[in-house]
Amino acid sequence: MSTENLDKAISNLPIRGFLNIDHLNIPQGDDLVKAILDLKKEKNAVILAHYYQSPAIQDIADFLGDSLQLARQAKDTDADMIAFCGVHFMAEAAKILNPTKKVVLPDTQAGCSLADGCSGEGLRKMREQYPNALIATYINCNAETKAESDIIVTSSNAETIIKSLPEDRPIIFAPDKNLGRYLAKKTGRDMILWDGSCIVHEAFSMERIATQLAENPDAKLIAHPESESAVLDLAHFIGSTSALLNYVEKDDCQKFIVATEEGILHEMRKRAPHKELIPALVFDKSCNCSECFYMKRNTMEKLYLCMKYELPEILIEEELRLRALKPIEAMLEMSKTIK
Ligand code: 13P
Ligand code: SF4
Repeated sequence: MSTENLDKAISNLPIRGFLNIDHLNIPQGDDLVKAILDLKKEKNAVILAHYYQSPAIQDIADFLGDSLQLARQAKDTDADMIAFCGVHFMAEAAKILNPTKKVVLPDTQAGCSLADGCSGEGLRKMREQYPNALIATYINCNAETKAESDIIVTSSNAETIIKSLPEDRPIIFAPDKNLGRYLAKKTGRDMILWDGSCIVHEAFSMERIATQLAENPDAKLIAHPESESAVLDLAHFIGSTSALLNYVEKDDCQKFIVATEEGILHEMRKRAPHKELIPALVFDKSCNCSECFYMKRNTMEKLYLCMKYELPEILIEEELRLRALKPIEAMLEMSKTIK
């Protein structure tokens, strides 16, 4: 099978359910777990996974983290191959930071509504419109968009970084308007916002969550800042993926309504096994779920295949990589004290 066809075949594997692709010889059950672990040894690979991955992927990962922690791990690993279980922009950031390593992503179609909605060209136009502004861009963007930015931020370090930018310069913030609005409020900075949003976090329903809170007066609402301001206004605590995990673990409260991607509940249950965790409700009553469709494109079967065939591989043209690296390195430098 040609490389291109194999890429497509892997990407088109069902997200859940029965796999009948005999010619790819995918082991099942415990054999699949063993095969992935064997490949890891054989290829000196490291598996990095985001908290929004499926429980099986989280459990097999060498390192589980939020986007800042994963970028740091990718930079520092001495493995020969990084099997990146997250979305495309995250695997791309790993390659930008560690170009000599082979970076594979189980499914290249694991995108992100924020990254897909913000182009490098769009940011160039904004810079022309506001020539005095600094461009701070959320890490949820592609390499070309990063290359047009002055600094990259993640949800863990955004507030610290925005606060430390020169006060005489306005800030263009892209691509998440909800996170941007939240940061403008927290920092008091003058921010020009790109009109983008996360399809998972904007789906939370303020009215339904208010009802959940009324029905659970002993619960606290915790929310990721990608959620809309109406939801954030109700929240007892707002934080990045890691901050939400730490909060549930350390806070005295025993019950939490969680307004972020559901994958996080797996790690939350491990860290706080006796606490009650209730997923926050979304607008769509027929679905009631807050899973990121893109994150869940990665499966154990695709992880096995990408490690076995060493593709789909993330490749970036060197000139673009170097331009995208600059604002990421600036971010890492400015967020050294953040865990
Ligand atoms: P974190 O930076 O909190 O990991 O967020 C990544 C993301 O995609 C949130 O939707
Ligand atoms: Fe992108 Fe939202 Fe999915 Fe995060 S949860 S990867 S921001 S679409």
